[in-house]
Amino acid sequence: MVVADTTAFLVGLGVGKLVDSVVRMRIRVTATALTTSLFWAAAVQRKSPFQRKDAAALLNEGLPISIAIPRVKSSKALAALAAVSSDQYDSDALPNPEVITRLNAMFALPLERLQVIVKQIISDMKTGLERDGGAIKMLPSFVTKRPSGREHGSYLAIDFGGTNLRVCELVLNGHSSEPQLLQSKFQISDNVKTGSGAALFDFIAECVRSFFQTHHALDAHDWNSKRWQLGFTFSFPVDQISIKAGTLITWTKGFTATNVIDRDSVRLLEDAFERMNLNIEVTALVNDTTGTLISHAFQNPDTYAGVILGTGSNCAYVEKFANITKFRGPPPPPGTTEMLINMEWGGFDDAQVVIPRTKYDLLLDRNTPTPGCYTFEQLISGMYIGEIVRLVILDLARTGDVFAKATIVARSPLHKQYGFETSYMSRIERDHSFDLADVKALLEDDEFEIVGATLADRKIIKAVCEMVGLRSARLAAAGVCAVVTKMNKLNGCTVGIDGSLFEKYPHYPNRMRDAMREILGISSENISLEQAKDGSGQGAGLIAALAAEAAAAAV
Ligand code: BGC
Repeated sequence: MVVADTTAFLVGLGVGKLVDSVVRMRIRVTATALTTSLFWAAAVQRKSPFQRKDAAALLNEGLPISIAIPRVKSSKALAALAAVSSDQYDSDALPNPEVITRLNAMFALPLERLQVIVKQIISDMKTGLERDGGAIKMLPSFVTKRPSGREHGSYLAIDFGGTNLRVCELVLNGHSSEPQLLQSKFQISDNVKTGSGAALFDFIAECVRSFFQTHHALDAHDWNSKRWQLGFTFSFPVDQISIKAGTLITWTKGFTATNVIDRDSVRLLEDAFERMNLNIEVTALVNDTTGTLISHAFQNPDTYAGVILGTGSNCAYVEKFANITKFRGPPPPPGTTEMLINMEWGGFDDAQVVIPRTKYDLLLDRNTPTPGCYTFEQLISGMYIGEIVRLVILDLARTGDVFAKATIVARSPLHKQYGFETSYMSRIERDHSFDLADVKALLEDDEFEIVGATLADRKIIKAVCEMVGLRSARLAAAGVCAVVTKMNKLNGCTVGIDGSLFEKYPHYPNRMRDAMREILGISSENISLEQAKDGSGQGAGLIAALAAEAAAAAV
């Protein structure tokens, strides 16, 4: 039996998942047409004594009700839903249930599929630790220690690889006081992303100079007389050959700058510092996931994984050194038992055999600079999921399933690649008003210049955002489940998570936790997902400090 009262939760869960897997839980349901339809479907399945119109009336009045929904296969329920309502929906107020059914079938990831995905990720992780060239790269980070809290000194850090670049100065005082962090943030333009490599590294060096001018204006003569040590977070797949050297394997996230692939990223940055006469030595090359792990472990020593759910997506975790059988770098310090691994999980299932892909996913991938590459990331991360929603909406508009009576002006961002940002999905999902008033404002006035969209149109758009957002969270959860299982940490650990999806997208953390509960059962309660805000800058500084300690110990 499922007991339902009114509000917005059902839409967030996704119809298929609800009917498939929820047997006993309290659910709050909005009086939306989608939920009305689901109610009908369930009632039809059960031959419930409720009359359809009674049910619809109750829900439309927003009254709390209790209904009995049996455990039924989603396909059956959805077929029933389509059968009872397809010819009866009010095209201005209720979305066509057939459209919702069809889309849901494309985007749903039921538990059985998630289990297959988790198993495959674990298997690919093992392969990646044994040899290069696997689907998940499993790149050794050369970080062999987590911070003790005793670290001292002043370090610079650069965090580069998403939407913004951050320059930080981290002052560590051991246990005697909290670390101090100064930072400046700069936007990375498309020209920087797609121009020449030299221009990209000059831009980074220019940002560092501007940081000094802002934060050390009074000691302008001094700051360049000292040789600074810098941790460089370069959030791309880098094949490291030491803690401070490594070559870019491929660009991701839409970057295409020339003459960077296969070259040492540290050398390129130090050359730019020299060109700008900056007295800085890069002492640690870091991925944002390892930075996030380390900075979160600084506050919470139980942290064993760092995850990014932002512009891109990836995970680093603590692996037993003995398991990294492909390791071929300089031998780590004696007594090393663990090393952080930068998984680069964005490349999982690039062969596209495990995760069902929709025609929209395939189209998105075809239009990236590197088709077939990092397709797991495309299903999860903030750079891409808005684009998937845009492609769905355009297709529905073409077939007349949405905006049939509306006009989309030619200059609307809906017609522009990546014009539907993931932040719009957040805004749409946050609108729980009966008439989706804020979605209306967004579509008509604020951004999209769509005239004449109906309530049914808005409900379909919201349902599409929910399906794509839910799939992203469930895939991220599958990744985390694989990692904690591989680490043998089902008895308890913390995962530090940074990025706008986890931080800002409504329901995202809960959707992840729900999926983890499905996959891991009660053990999921032992895994704590914690927000790790802006950790990668601080983490790079900390890793520079650890590298300095290791260098001092080796002398
Ligand atoms: C990169 C990773 C990075 C992730 C999150 C991916 O595109 O390949 O190295 O950790 O984005 O920023």
